[in-house]
Amino acid sequence: MTSTVFPGDREDEGLMREKGEMTKIVCLLASPRKAGNSDVLAERFCSAAEMHGAHAQVHSLRDLRFQGYTPQNGTMADYGPDDDLGPVLADIEEADVLVIATPIYFCNISGLAKQALDRFFTFFVPDYLTAEVPSRLGRDKKLVLVQTQGEGEERYGNILDQYTPAFDKLGFTSRYLLRACGVRDMGEVAAHTKALSNADLLARRIVLAEEATVD
Ligand SMILES: Cc1cc2nc3c(=O)[nH]c(=O)nc-3n(C[C@H](O)[C@H](O)[C@H](O)COP(=O)(O)O)c2cc1C
Repeated sequence: MTSTVFPGDREDEGLMREKGEMTKIVCLLASPRKAGNSDVLAERFCSAAEMHGAHAQVHSLRDLRFQGYTPQNGTMADYGPDDDLGPVLADIEEADVLVIATPIYFCNISGLAKQALDRFFTFFVPDYLTAEVPSRLGRDKKLVLVQTQGEGEERYGNILDQYTPAFDKLGFTSRYLLRACGVRDMGEVAAHTKALSNADLLARRIVLAEEATVD
């Protein structure tokens, strides 16, 4: 079993120090399996972040009823169809850090995660293709991908790398990977000490801006 955390794209100056206020984390649990490996790892990260003074709001996508992207018809609310994902998208807009926790399913993110991501289209401004700032989210949100997979670390890398053009445009300029490989059964990640300690270190690094070395 192996795990890897990749540093963010730019030097992390620390959200608390930057803003002098509490770091807001929104965490999307995107596995259909409650208390599975990705839940456990994401919750470990959120708990560690809260110990350092952050506030974490956790949304279990499996418990929500929501559609994917739906074409605009003039009657849609800001966040798309009037369903359970609307308030979640509103929370993301206010957050400093977004955590997406997903298992690898069929060589990709889970369907739940993809269905939610399609709705992120709502964050683009109408002229996003040409606008200098194409996103309503600003330019300095942080994204943490919690990725659990049955196969080894040689497979998949950071599964969100393929979404780089969208996340760049959306303003998630710092992105981090927290990964546990070779975990299949419920609870297996609990024995994955490297992944758990990486979760602690990454939380510390993001919230407190300490020079935590994560690998
Ligand atoms: C429907 C399904 C598809 C899966 N596909 C893959 C896969 O393509 N590659 C892989 O490494 N693991 C795959 N797995 C294993 C899961 O990624 C692994 O069990 C993961 O730890 C589950 O996380 P969870 O407990 O948070 O749901 C699959 C599991 C299921 C149930």
